[in-house]
Amino acid sequence: MAKLAHAQWSSRMGFVLAAAGSAVGLGNIWRFSYMTGESGGAAFVLVYLACVTLVGLPILVAEWMIGRRGQKNPINTMADLATSHGRSRAWATIGISGVLAAFLILSFYSVIGGWSLNYTLGSVIGTFNGQDSDAVGAIFDNLLGNPTALLLWHTAFMVLVVGIVARGVTKGLEAASRILMPALVVLLLILVGYGMASGHFGEALTFMFNPDWEALDGGVVLAAMGQAFFTLSLGMGIMMAYGSYLGEDVNLISTARTVIILDTAIALLAGLAIFPIVFANGLSASEGPGLIFVTLPLAFGNMAGGTILGLMFFLLLTFAALTSAISLLEPVVETLEERTSLSRTGSTLVSAIAVWVLGVAALLSFNVWSDVLFFGLNIFDFLDTFTSKILLPLTGLGAIIFFSICLDKEEARKELRLDIYDFTLWNLLAKYVAPLGVIVVFLTGLI
Ligand code: PFF
Ligand code: NA
Repeated sequence: MAKLAHAQWSSRMGFVLAAAGSAVGLGNIWRFSYMTGESGGAAFVLVYLACVTLVGLPILVAEWMIGRRGQKNPINTMADLATSHGRSRAWATIGISGVLAAFLILSFYSVIGGWSLNYTLGSVIGTFNGQDSDAVGAIFDNLLGNPTALLLWHTAFMVLVVGIVARGVTKGLEAASRILMPALVVLLLILVGYGMASGHFGEALTFMFNPDWEALDGGVVLAAMGQAFFTLSLGMGIMMAYGSYLGEDVNLISTARTVIILDTAIALLAGLAIFPIVFANGLSASEGPGLIFVTLPLAFGNMAGGTILGLMFFLLLTFAALTSAISLLEPVVETLEERTSLSRTGSTLVSAIAVWVLGVAALLSFNVWSDVLFFGLNIFDFLDTFTSKILLPLTGLGAIIFFSICLDKEEARKELRLDIYDFTLWNLLAKYVAPLGVIVVFLTGLI
């Protein structure tokens, strides 16, 4: 009896770690804080929290269940499940747009992963020690203005990703998450403590949680929903792929709740760590993608034990970025491997090189190509905006609609282990609230 319970626990635990490894990454710390700052704070945060609960949870569960049924790459999974339920193969389009989103996101994700690597080294050699906010800002601006350096760090990050995937040590990484994820939380807590001591914590709290609803418009709501998708790794076929190695014994809803609480807690802690530093130093919250790179080094450079804490922080951030990037590469590699004659290694190399090339375009948009614009956005902003605000929501919407209309209701109820009442509630969420929510937010955001 005890043995059985333990076996169950460890399989669920292994899955939670894998899913959390994909979810927790740059999205929680780098992207959450810069989007919150750029979108005016609390109104964005509250809409984001609503999206994570009302839209994120049902879509996460739907993607896992689809993956558990289909057992293939996202495109074939959708095609097979659709045809075996008497529906058109055209549903596979959802899988295609998911894989495309993963490909596009990884290209710029790797550039930011490179920044994190660079800051790890910077912490080791003490670049930030005793620097003031102007100096820290200048260090970041120098990095952005230096295409060679950006290229080097982007390349280094991609090489790490490919090295890990090719050596098949991803399982080892998952085991490491068990220690490193709590370590990241502890470091964030130390930073939050530092923020409390700085005297500007109240201002940060107000900024993050006391909404000025006037600031809310369709654009902010769409940005918040995009952040919810991005941070939970939804709409990319990733969670679908993970669902395929999910045991029948794992309770999807409670597991989704665990992953979402963890991911959200880390994002909120990151905000509570970063914004006090922003206000204490008179920095701009709407700094953009550089926000954590001009705030955190300032804190580390001026606090007791900051060198070692800064080093640990950027190392852990890089680690979190790597586990997410590996999960991003997976659906692309898996698709190539199953749909072309390429081997596993060949597929990994081809996808990585393609991602790398697009990443180079993204990093050039911070300097020499800064005036190359698509729809008024530079390449980096375009990739980020197009994926998070358009591709991810549409793919997630497709997945949840597919779930409700193509899979058998009674089967789903049994699989989710819900009684009739809870299932009614679930159905309301999955069938109406989540899809309509996405559609309304999407349309108002575009207008
Ligand atoms: N969810 C990850 C993060 O928040 O950093 C990023 C990510 C990973 C997005 C994997 C998409 C993905 F497929
Ligand atoms: Na995340």
